Amino acid sequence: MKKRARSVVMTVVLFVAVFGCGRFAAKDVQPKAEAVPKAQAIIAAAEVDSGHPEIEPGLSCNDCHEIKLDANTTATKVYLFGQSPGHSEGEGVMSKERVWAEIEKAIGGLKHDSKTFILATSLNNVPLSTTCEWTLDPKTGKLYGFHEAGTEKLRHIEANPKVSMNYHKEFDSETFKDFLCVQVRGTARLINGDDPDFERIMIELLPYEFGARVPADATPEQREARLKAFRQGVKKAFLISEITPEQITIANQKFRAEGMRVYQRWTR
Ligand code: HEC
Repeated sequence: MKKRARSVVMTVVLFVAVFGCGRFAAKDVQPKAEAVPKAQAIIAAAEVDSGHPEIEPGLSCNDCHEIKLDANTTATKVYLFGQSPGHSEGEGVMSKERVWAEIEKAIGGLKHDSKTFILATSLNNVPLSTTCEWTLDPKTGKLYGFHEAGTEKLRHIEANPKVSMNYHKEFDSETFKDFLCVQVRGTARLINGDDPDFERIMIELLPYEFGARVPADATPEQREARLKAFRQGVKKAFLISEITPEQITIANQKFRAEGMRVYQRWTR
């Protein structure tokens, strides 16, 4: 398990490190234009050799090079669509609707049924992973989290809204039975207390009622007053993150039982 989990984490971290922050860094630290030969497109697995022009700290490969993803993602593509053990090319791929239904089954649920994820953010090519709870809005397919203001992950998001997140169930590394893991790539936006959506999202989706500590013997009116006061009270000190997934990859060992591929992918 550990090895596998570590490689999943490393993949996410590497991905964020290589691709997540490039554009942000490029804005701040433009490579010098003088007399340097033009950087060609490179494959994701490319390495610099001793003859490479000097790379200033804070710059990543994709600040100068276009990176061809294909070479790097071949393994995943084979799992998803290609000729692989038990499947000929294109076989065992679920419909977009079915994949979404499976994603909802794995990470859906409002209020107290919300799920905890690891969120990967990146600032100046330094990745950060944080555990937090998010609620999937079944109407919009977006995820909402509730966060104390002023934390590092929020500063990352303000500077670089590209994020990746991952939900997984603990699994047995010998049998891979019950292997279930959901990887999200998307864009995050922060919603503050002044936004009219702030309270609506709390009321409809987020599990905040526990925090309001409504006494057990409160009347419905007292309960509502208490909840409302709580919602007003958190508007300054808390922010809501809205994550719009652009791509979600779900791996579920159970898909195998019906002849489907374990890895399925949804794109917006
Ligand atoms: C500051 C801009 C810049 C950054 C950042 C940068 N490179 Fe380059 N790279 C270049 C330039 C310019 C060349 C062409 C040098 C030459 O032809 O002498 C080059 C050449 C290369 C080549 C040879 C390509 C070929 O087809 O000949 C490889 C491979 C390469 N870079 C990989 C990388 C990798 C991997 C990274 C990230 C670790 C990286 N580069 C980061 C500017 C950059």
